Amino acid sequence: MRSSDLRPDSRSAVIAGLGTCLPVGAVGNADLARILDTDDAWIRSRTGIASRRQVSDDVSMTDLACAAGVNALDSAGVSAVGGVVLATSTPDRPCPPAAPEVAHRLGLGQVPAFDVSAVCSGFVYGLATACGLLAARVADSVLVVAAETYSRIVDPADRATAVLFGDGAGAVVLRRGEVAEPGALLAFDLGSDGADAELIRVPGVREQPDGERWFAMAGRKVYLRAVERMAGSALRVMKDCSWAPGSVDVFVPHQANLRIVDAVAGRLGLPPGRAVSALAEVGNTAAASIPLALADALSSRVLTPGARTVLTAFGGGLTWASAALIWPQLTPVSTEV
Ligand code: UT7
Repeated sequence: MRSSDLRPDSRSAVIAGLGTCLPVGAVGNADLARILDTDDAWIRSRTGIASRRQVSDDVSMTDLACAAGVNALDSAGVSAVGGVVLATSTPDRPCPPAAPEVAHRLGLGQVPAFDVSAVCSGFVYGLATACGLLAARVADSVLVVAAETYSRIVDPADRATAVLFGDGAGAVVLRRGEVAEPGALLAFDLGSDGADAELIRVPGVREQPDGERWFAMAGRKVYLRAVERMAGSALRVMKDCSWAPGSVDVFVPHQANLRIVDAVAGRLGLPPGRAVSALAEVGNTAAASIPLALADALSSRVLTPGARTVLTAFGGGLTWASAALIWPQLTPVSTEV
């Protein structure tokens, strides 16, 4: 081995563009209260959600993914990337994965493309996976998309879940770059605990051959684990970066519940206003929630270039994931479908 082989690697993956897409259709709390035994006051006080978006019958998860992907390419000012990683837990079909179709529809050619399934942690898992593709020199740039249509798997008659989720998509372009550049992904923390796999699930065909297969969640237990796991994961990436929690400018947690956002921010000792809350109008959009929250925070100028930024997700599996970066100069592109 030569001494140069031992030098720390200064290469990194850099976020170069951000795109989002939301369905135009909005379902407000009052709309749900007309068909379910619930009310606006309960939903707002327990979750912070006022409304959520829902795709029309002719819009698929793949359509949302393509729109967010096009917008991310536009934001990055590129028309080609060397790979596509798509995070979703609501695929339009079990097989094949949607990423190759996204690559095809975006005119990206015969690039490597595959789906990642880590439920609400999928976007950050996707970022880490794409970093691996760049490090392995499989590609020089990768489109990471997170797209979800929970309206297709949530039982509309179940008040415990129907009020929580919304549809949407977000995407980033990652390119190879240097650790010192703004936008470079500086640290990751990924984990899972399959012992709690039953807490968030959709039954399989063999488990429920004749029944309806709706999404189910043990809300209270998930809540407690979400707070604990997200706080632990965020603290690990901060430690990796030698960032004291008080020195983090913007914390972008998975947007499941405003109470969870506040509880995790409290555990991290973050001053008020540092944790992004962007779920009031879109609900919990699962894997798409972090890129949608990034776009929301940029439009409200909560997030600005140079900010020490931590992304932290939690979801079914159970899975959790965090990433740290200095936010780069970029203009997000957002559309509705
Ligand atoms: O994205 C993946 C990760 N997901 C999460 O992190 C979600 C974690 N969980 C949560 O956000 C919260 O647990 C929920 C929002 C799902 C529920 O809030 P909670 O404060 O934990 O309520 P709970 O489940 O303990 O239910 C309290 C009461 C129950 O009634 P009783 O048993 O006390 O009479 C529920 O039946 O609220 C009732 N309830 C509702 N009432 C009106 C449950 N859903 C509703 C509803 N409207 N929509």
